[in-house]
Amino acid sequence: MDFNEHNLADRLSGEFIGNTVHFFKELDSTNIYASRIARNGTPEGTVVIADCQTRGKGRLNRVWQSPSRKNIYTSIILKPSIKPSVAPQLTLTAGVAAAEFLSRYCPGAVTLKWPNDIQVRKNKICGILTEMRTTGGTIDFVVIGIGININMRKEEFDEEFREASTSLREETGRDISRVDFVVGLYQSFEKWYEIYKSEGFASIKDRWLEYSEILDKKIQINHRGNIQKGKVLGIDECGALLLFDEEGKTKPVLAGDVSLIGDK
Ligand code: BTN
Repeated sequence: MDFNEHNLADRLSGEFIGNTVHFFKELDSTNIYASRIARNGTPEGTVVIADCQTRGKGRLNRVWQSPSRKNIYTSIILKPSIKPSVAPQLTLTAGVAAAEFLSRYCPGAVTLKWPNDIQVRKNKICGILTEMRTTGGTIDFVVIGIGININMRKEEFDEEFREASTSLREETGRDISRVDFVVGLYQSFEKWYEIYKSEGFASIKDRWLEYSEILDKKIQINHRGNIQKGKVLGIDECGALLLFDEEGKTKPVLAGDVSLIGDK
């Protein structure tokens, strides 16, 4: 099935997430476009999808490799009634939704890496970039950007990411329909966003910890060259990682790259 606006809108009709679809053959970044239309009053649940991005954005100002005809690059617009300080909860909610759906293709092999990576057999398959606009301490909108490597071959990844990256095609040995995947991803997102709104963050946190492999493990977090080490105690009520550091203090950490100490 062709990856185009018609097929996507057809399959998503009646859903809350994907109620309106903006599809582009090429875009600078779905997150940039989503923020632009959200500023102009686009309703919650609107999604932006691009077949390729010329300025795909990763976390910490990194580039997200976004070639055409291969992967999924999408952004979801949300307007939650929450404080800006707890917005990281939404990144973890999106992570649980994507991990659960990816598990249908790779049962038992999907893990979540704090704060926003999804891995299959320890290689990165998906990244999430959450951005928001606030006014006077209130959230105007949140954009959840999700990039998933679907049909990319190992040799097509940029050399610096190749070894540590994977795609659904690499993991399953077959070409995957991007239309099927994106529809299932949004359904999973909708389910988990409803759980988040009705039951609160506790249910998300428990599920997130089940998919992660860092609880009670010794880790190091590198944030722009600043290294912190400690044992992971869990996730706090805002979505920050709780670290028991080497000085015996418990600290919430909001950003950085995590690696397990002693893990090769
Ligand atoms: C990361 O792991 O660093 C986050 C990557 C997020 C990439 C996605 S692709 C769709 C959306 N648009 C962007 O420009 N970035 C996100």
